[in-house]
Amino acid sequence: MLDCTDRHARYFMRKLSRHAMLYTEMITANALIFGDRDRHLRFDKQEHPLALQLGGSEPEAMAQASEFAAEYGYDEININVGCPSDRVQSGSFGACLMAEPAIVAACVKAMRAAVDIPITVKTRIGIDEADTYTQLEEFVNQVSAAGVSTFIIHARKAWLKGLSPKENRDVPPLDYERVYQLKREHPELEIIINGGIKTIEECQQHLEQVDGVMLGREVYHNPWLLSEVDQAIYGHTSELQTREQAVASMQPYIEQQLANDTYLKHVSRHMIGLYHGRPGARHWRRTLSEKSCKEGADFEVLNEALSFVTREPQPIAVNT
Ligand SMILES: Cc1cc2nc3c(=O)[nH]c(=O)nc-3n(C[C@H](O)[C@H](O)[C@H](O)COP(=O)(O)O)c2cc1C
Repeated sequence: MLDCTDRHARYFMRKLSRHAMLYTEMITANALIFGDRDRHLRFDKQEHPLALQLGGSEPEAMAQASEFAAEYGYDEININVGCPSDRVQSGSFGACLMAEPAIVAACVKAMRAAVDIPITVKTRIGIDEADTYTQLEEFVNQVSAAGVSTFIIHARKAWLKGLSPKENRDVPPLDYERVYQLKREHPELEIIINGGIKTIEECQQHLEQVDGVMLGREVYHNPWLLSEVDQAIYGHTSELQTREQAVASMQPYIEQQLANDTYLKHVSRHMIGLYHGRPGARHWRRTLSEKSCKEGADFEVLNEALSFVTREPQPIAVNT
């Protein structure tokens, strides 16, 4: 998610779940070719498993960008065919590529020839008037024939003209059944559903129909939700029992980042939602937002913010 899932956010999310796949913000192929590649691509190895999301529509550029991604050690490359912003449309990529399956297929072929890591696609159920099941299926058929077996599908269409990107995440109605149908009729594909999913129970219901669930806004705004995922979805014990443990687990990373000229706010802004719905959440948020940007702000800001939130009981160790 642009401006959200940067490397600091992902490091924090990884503390909350060992197993969830994490995705970068969308980065354009040209930004990697002509821009500050290391700034865009570097990540901490603890972030694995990690996918790089690429935007672009030129096979050669997408292949070159994929090579960079593979060199940096990403586990997957995901092509963005879902973003409806004007900026992305003027670059002829994102959601408008749903109308150009042959171009996406050519990108996939070039990328697969360049790297061995899996290439996946994130898309919508349709764009503008091209929103029938048959049109979605035609897109998926052409792209899967080029070598994609995993599709992440945001279960609403996008209007390319007339709605802002934000409205395009809320206004077109969700149609989960459309995504279920795709899985039913293409059991050979891995289908991951996305859009409006807010609870673990909802994830579990979707998993009866499809292979995976992608959570966007809810996890970003209420990151503690992710701490339930390892146990409830993957059947592994969670490493963290309390939010306070999550904060403490970030201390070494934060200190290391501060020593490398990163400001506290760059990390702490992603932790603002940690106490979402808990007593003292407002004070937590306010302390982090107001004090993290001050000159010299360090981990003490988090300790101060913690003093406002109700302490959660620590797990009791029983000696038998
Ligand atoms: C601030 C913001 C930035 C986003 N950036 C991206 C992006 O870079 N790439 C992408 O595929 N989707 C992006 N999305 C869309 C989400 O990945 C997701 O598809 C959408 O929000 C619906 O899922 P949700 O209801 O779980 O949030 C973004 C969403 C938000 C709110």
